[in-house]
Amino acid sequence: MRTCSFFSLLCLLLLFSRADALFGYIVGRCQFTSSDDLVYLAQVYFNKVFLGQYNSTLGKYTGYTEKAKEITDGFNKNHKMLEQEKKNYNKCKTYIPLILDLFSQTAVEPSVTLRSVEAAGSKHPGMLICSVYKFFPKQIRVTWLRNGKEVTSDVTSTEEMANGNWLYQIHSHLEYTPRLGETITCKVEHASLMEPQLHEWVPKPASERNKIAVGTAGLLLGLVIFIAGLIYYKKNTSGRMLVPTS
Ligand SMILES: *[C@@H]1O[C@H](CO)[C@@H](O)[C@H](O)[C@H]1NC(C)=O
Repeated sequence: MRTCSFFSLLCLLLLFSRADALFGYIVGRCQFTSSDDLVYLAQVYFNKVFLGQYNSTLGKYTGYTEKAKEITDGFNKNHKMLEQEKKNYNKCKTYIPLILDLFSQTAVEPSVTLRSVEAAGSKHPGMLICSVYKFFPKQIRVTWLRNGKEVTSDVTSTEEMANGNWLYQIHSHLEYTPRLGETITCKVEHASLMEPQLHEWVPKPASERNKIAVGTAGLLLGLVIFIAGLIYYKKNTSGRMLVPTS
């Protein structure tokens, strides 16, 4: 599966008419995932209405309103215009390696944390959260592996959220029932990474959890004894106070 890398280059041509408040624009768009997979589009909008476009895969113009259809039919008979669009397509193609290089240089590697929380109202007692912070570009793939195999059920994820500083974060949740001897891994794939990052979940050893439980119980017991002692002491001292000294 493709991890990311869908890029779109835009160039705009704006047409204004101040008197009648008319506004039109033509967008040239290079969309690609690699140099073998490129669509060049020239799209015409007028007063926000999408009228028609040239699509390089079709190799012709298409109109989306009656009037636009008449015009694009004319364009499609105009060899010079079609030639020009082919040239634009080829220009896109030559830029792709440059753009891909530029994007790979601006990519920012994510930082990943993995933690466990209790899953409320779920058939599973536990939930793991894989939080991926501070990455760019936005496209990312976060998946879960159980013993090396991808887990698809009981997985939910947030959208990629913009931090407002060109960086993004995303949080993926896995509801699960811990089983002895299995390994759970959060796998992160991103343009900034040469290969997928694997973050293995290491549960707290049972002995450590037991120590915490014993410690807590001991603390509570101590507190109960202390309070009982306090009450006993108060009763005794106040009882003594009542006895007048002569
Ligand atoms: C361009 O044309 C191809 C082939 O018909 C089509 O698959 C693609 O969706 C078109 N792209 C747009 C943006 O219309």
